[in-house]
Amino acid sequence: MMWNINHPYMLVTAFVLLSSCKHAILHDIKEWKTCQFAICCQCKDVPGSRNLIADCSGKDLLPIPMFPSNIQELSLRNNNISTILDGIFVGNSLMTTLDLSFNKISRIQKNSFKGLTNLLSLNLSNNDLKYENRSFEYSAFHFLENLKHLNLKKNVHTSFMPDLWKLRSLESLSMDYIADKIGILDEKFSYFKNLKKIDLSGLTGNCKLTILTEKTFLFLPQITHLNLSKCKIQYLFKGTFKLLRNILELDISLNTCLRFEALENITTDLQHSAIEILKVNYIHGILEKTTVLKTSHIWNLQNTSIVRLEAAGNRIQTIESGAIKYLPETFKSVDIRKNMFSAGNYLLDVINMKIASLEMSDNTSPYDIISSYVEKCPIKEETITINSENNWLYTELPILKLFKNRSGKFVFPMPRSLKKVSLRSSNVKFELPNLSFTENEIENIDLSDNFLHTWTGPITNVKKLTHLDLSVNFCSNVSKTFFSPDFINLRCLLLQNNLLGLVLPTDVNGEIFQNLHNVVYINLSKNKITNIPNLLFQKQHNLERLDLSENIIDDINFKLFHMKKLMFLNLRNNRISTLSQYAMNELDSIAKINKNLTIDLAENNFVCNCDSQSFVKWMIYTPIVLHHRKEYQCKTSQNTISLRNPREVFKTIQKECMSYEGLIIALTTGILMFIFILCGGIVYRYRWKLRYLYYMVKVKWHDPEPHSDNKDERLYMYDAFVSYANEDDTFVHHKLLNNLEKNGGIQLCLHRRNFLPGNDIATNITSAIHNSRKTIVIMSANYLASYWCMFEYNMAKMESIYERNCENILFLVFYEQMSACDLPLKILELVHCQSYIEYPNDEYGDVVFWEQFQKAIKY
Ligand SMILES: *[C@@H]1O[C@H](CO)[C@@H](O)[C@H](O)[C@H]1NC(C)=O
Ligand SMILES: *[C@@H]1O[C@H](CO)[C@@H](O)[C@H](O)[C@H]1NC(C)=O
Ligand SMILES: *[C@@H]1O[C@H](CO)[C@@H](O)[C@H](O)[C@H]1NC(C)=O
Ligand SMILES: *[C@@H]1O[C@H](CO)[C@@H](O)[C@H](O)[C@H]1NC(C)=O
Ligand SMILES: *[C@@H]1O[C@H](CO)[C@@H](O)[C@H](O)[C@H]1NC(C)=O
Ligand SMILES: *[C@@H]1O[C@H](CO)[C@@H](O)[C@H](O)[C@H]1NC(C)=O
Ligand SMILES: *[C@@H]1O[C@H](CO)[C@@H](O)[C@H](O)[C@H]1NC(C)=O
Ligand SMILES: *[C@@H]1O[C@H](CO)[C@@H](O)[C@H](O)[C@H]1NC(C)=O
Ligand SMILES: *[C@@H]1O[C@H](CO)[C@@H](O)[C@H](O)[C@H]1NC(C)=O
Ligand SMILES: *[C@@H]1O[C@H](CO)[C@@H](O)[C@H](O)[C@H]1NC(C)=O
Ligand SMILES: *[C@@H]1O[C@H](CO)[C@@H](O)[C@H](O)[C@H]1NC(C)=O
Repeated sequence: MMWNINHPYMLVTAFVLLSSCKHAILHDIKEWKTCQFAICCQCKDVPGSRNLIADCSGKDLLPIPMFPSNIQELSLRNNNISTILDGIFVGNSLMTTLDLSFNKISRIQKNSFKGLTNLLSLNLSNNDLKYENRSFEYSAFHFLENLKHLNLKKNVHTSFMPDLWKLRSLESLSMDYIADKIGILDEKFSYFKNLKKIDLSGLTGNCKLTILTEKTFLFLPQITHLNLSKCKIQYLFKGTFKLLRNILELDISLNTCLRFEALENITTDLQHSAIEILKVNYIHGILEKTTVLKTSHIWNLQNTSIVRLEAAGNRIQTIESGAIKYLPETFKSVDIRKNMFSAGNYLLDVINMKIASLEMSDNTSPYDIISSYVEKCPIKEETITINSENNWLYTELPILKLFKNRSGKFVFPMPRSLKKVSLRSSNVKFELPNLSFTENEIENIDLSDNFLHTWTGPITNVKKLTHLDLSVNFCSNVSKTFFSPDFINLRCLLLQNNLLGLVLPTDVNGEIFQNLHNVVYINLSKNKITNIPNLLFQKQHNLERLDLSENIIDDINFKLFHMKKLMFLNLRNNRISTLSQYAMNELDSIAKINKNLTIDLAENNFVCNCDSQSFVKWMIYTPIVLHHRKEYQCKTSQNTISLRNPREVFKTIQKECMSYEGLIIALTTGILMFIFILCGGIVYRYRWKLRYLYYMVKVKWHDPEPHSDNKDERLYMYDAFVSYANEDDTFVHHKLLNNLEKNGGIQLCLHRRNFLPGNDIATNITSAIHNSRKTIVIMSANYLASYWCMFEYNMAKMESIYERNCENILFLVFYEQMSACDLPLKILELVHCQSYIEYPNDEYGDVVFWEQFQKAIKY
């Protein structure tokens, strides 16, 4: 059978087919190699023989070269050949196919085809053959005694029939035919006893058959295929095809001057024929009135075996009620695209047809490039018209009401054997309600490009449905129950070009698609989706292809890991700046199982900065095939760079981020160090003060002194604290003690004698200094070397500064001779600006010294 219902999986597998086709072509190209006899030709072996197929097309050849005898098929298409020289093919008796189309051949000589005794197919279309002038020797064709297929199209513009009566084997003939009045294929055609197919189509040749009558095909009763498309037919009288009892396929499309009413003349002639396919597309002018498909148009087909009818672009607005009943049982497929249908009861008839394929799309745009072909037609009498120009097919619910079942549910009568229906671009406009179908076999429903704005559902009884196209419907609302569990076999779901971005992000529990367990392909491109909730595709374990391109998604947040068969994820043209770790993990875990995973991330807003380091790194190491990777770009702080080589980009970012990190670390440590040094400095600078204060607190804590308002009247426990090195204790315990305490009555505090045992030394010292009026320092080299002595010295200084209003309480006694160089700066300072005495160490001096000393202390 010639007709063919488009396979329901066609779209699903289109991608696979395409890739396998490409593969096949590549494979073929591999087989072609340069011919040994002519470098400008490509040759290929004929499987199972030593013969060759040669392709010399498009090489600007002027004369035809000689070809070896084992050429079986030869293409000289699209060269500059103007003459076929005598005897050029003499040695080519094995040749079966010769293509000379698209040349400049104007001369065929007497022996041009000599030798081509086994030629089956000759193509001379698109040349300059003129049948006058004797440049065209008919006798040349006499050698082609076995020729079956001859193409002479696009040569002549006149009504001239070459004398080809010797071609007894001819089965198909394609030629030009020009007849300004009645076209008659005359008695010469009666020689073509085997001719089955005649192609006169004006789409590929020159055709003009103004008037067709019963005489036109008088000599061709055996014809099975007749192509009269675009032949400028104006009148087609009854009886034209009456003799063509064997006709299987008749194409009268694109004869717009005929007008739709002529269909009756055509079908009348076909009532006893073998017709299977009838094509009457565009037999009505685009500027004519709308038409009605009437009973009389098809009544005559009732006893035929017609299988398919094409009547696209005929401005049909309605179908006469009951007319469709006359289509025979064999009728399986109808194409009534690009008409002007409006709602009517005929829809009930259509629905009751036993067809498998119903193509009713493009109800809104009846005109395309072919149909806008305007012919100048003779004026004919007015045809019956309907005034209404409303071509809405199912506007809102009136038509659906016809199918409302008493329980309030819509039950749509689906033709029992219908497998495929297309209502694409048909102005169907309503909310998809709670709807069921009658018993059906439907596999493929195309409702794209309509106004099905709300999908409420549930749609039930669609268990065989595999392919659903709801794209381009302005849909913003799909209920969680729309896809009922009856969608169990749905494999291909096309939802692109809607507004589902308004509803999908709210489906956090993944309910909308929960029943679609067997879907392999979902297209959600162009839906203004901002975010895919994590569980949206939770039940799509079998998904292979997911198209989310051209949305406004900024990351992959949805579960993917369970889609073990996923092959292609399209995220082209979204707003992804970088993929989250979650997304990368999900994708990589599929890639581990499925090596074929491809993902398209082109045209996103990638950024290349320190935050996206791991993403760029992922690009380098991921096993996933990144489709269109060459187009990937990312924004850096300065400009946009290509991600063609992510390794390089990663290195750059890494370097930048490292120096950045380093900077931060250096800066923080610097600041910390500074603070630390500052504190250290401060502590060092005030170390004595701090120690003093600390011990003072400790002292006061231990024995708080009696409170006195006046400092001058303060009572001291001792007159003087003697600070000395242990090495100098003989001097202190004998001389000093005798002279000051025993003789002078000065109460001294000596650490050996007066310190409280049990208290720590520092506290004792501080307390002693604090409780003595003066502090006597016995300065010597030993003193300077002793830690505790220096401690006492410093504490005494602090005492003088902070407790005694800078009154000098220090009293230096140089016990031995010391040079200025030996003294530390601090002490030297004191020596310079304050009093000190040197111990004279002689009899007389001693007396004076002690007297002075006593005075100084007492004062
Ligand atoms: C072949 O024909 C084309 C188109 O007429 C012309 O441009 C080209 O120069 C011709 N080549 C030769 C070799 O004559
Ligand atoms: C002849 O060539 C034309 C144009 O290349 C092509 O469309 C047609 O199929 C060919 N016909 C035959 C019978 O080879
Ligand atoms: C015959 O063809 C030749 C060249 O092909 C041309 O010069 C001549 O004018 C033609 N004669 C007629 C009568 O068409
Ligand atoms: C008639 O010929 C045209 C042009 O080659 C082609 O498009 C059309 O399919 C043919 N019709 C049939 C029925 O083969
Ligand atoms: C149909 O056939 C009738 C009778 O043969 C003829 O009068 C009429 O003009 C034909 N219609 C067309 C559109 O050719
Ligand atoms: C088809 O056949 C039936 C029964 O044989 C007959 O009544 C009817 O007239 C026929 N229709 C046509 C159009 O020949
Ligand atoms: C309504 O439709 C249901 C399901 O198709 C069917 O079972 C029931 O009989 C119908 N009721 C009426 C009143 O048509
Ligand atoms: C759809 O219609 C069926 C049958 O009338 C009913 O049982 C079901 O509850 C309806 N569903 C919704 C969501 O309205
Ligand atoms: C979606 O459609 C349902 C049913 O018609 C309706 O109740 C709901 O309000 C619609 N939601 C929005 C956001 O339009
Ligand atoms: C999905 O739909 C978009 C928009 O119509 C289209 O461009 C794209 O090719 C479709 N995807 C696939 C994989 O067919
Ligand atoms: C990957 O693709 C190749 C060719 O397209 C196919 O043969 C193979 O089965 C696929 N592998 C998987 C795991 O899908």
